[in-house]
Amino acid sequence: MEKSTALGTNRTGIDMSPVDVKKMLALTNVTPPSSNGDERAIAEMRSRHIADASVIGSVPPPGSLKGVASTAMQKLTGKNPEAFIDKLGCRLAFERAGVRLYDALIVKASSIPGAPSEIPLDTLRKFRNEELRHFRLLEGAIRSIGADPTTQTPSADVDGMASLGLMQVLTDPRTSLSHCLEAILIAELADNDAWQLLIQLAAKMGMDDMARDFETALQEEDVHLAHIRQWFKESVLDDAAVAA
Ligand SMILES: [Fe+2]
Ligand SMILES: [Fe+2]
Repeated sequence: MEKSTALGTNRTGIDMSPVDVKKMLALTNVTPPSSNGDERAIAEMRSRHIADASVIGSVPPPGSLKGVASTAMQKLTGKNPEAFIDKLGCRLAFERAGVRLYDALIVKASSIPGAPSEIPLDTLRKFRNEELRHFRLLEGAIRSIGADPTTQTPSADVDGMASLGLMQVLTDPRTSLSHCLEAILIAELADNDAWQLLIQLAAKMGMDDMARDFETALQEEDVHLAHIRQWFKESVLDDAAVAA
């Protein structure tokens, strides 16, 4: 695998200019903070905003109940279908993002000269297509309970925000394949955990068929996670020139 780390003139550390250390520390004595206070002020301000804030989003009620199998709605009666729809929508958004992450990883792996043969592009394409299949599986699941799969649910919104950095790592031309594998590993770890939770949730909502379908997706996610974890480990050990 290509080297991820290289020696160079990184100037961010203090040791790059020992003669200036004294001067820099002296400066801190003559330039006190421009305002009084400590971290308590920002904590108080955040707290005030939290108290004033409304929710980050909402889940629309299932739009058309007429075409929905009444058995599905019966199973959800007395429970909170909106909490379930929120998490289904979240998984759907994450799987769609997963397709895009793998698209970017495939470009990275195929653009690096002498890309490692231990990461076959065919396997990456297979994982990418499985993410897309999971997206479609969720789309069908959401429709089956009369909800709208095009809705950005609150959890989908939050998840999207939390994973913004992953896409930035994957699409930065300067990142190595190893950096990208680490970003995908973060996504796969979160994905794997979220599928397990969704299966539990579906079963508790009485959606046994759905839970069974989701189990198949989780089995594929297990394979993704195992491969990405192994490739990332090998890339790090390789980079350090130590044997796996
Ligand atoms: Fe996934
Ligand atoms: Fe995956």
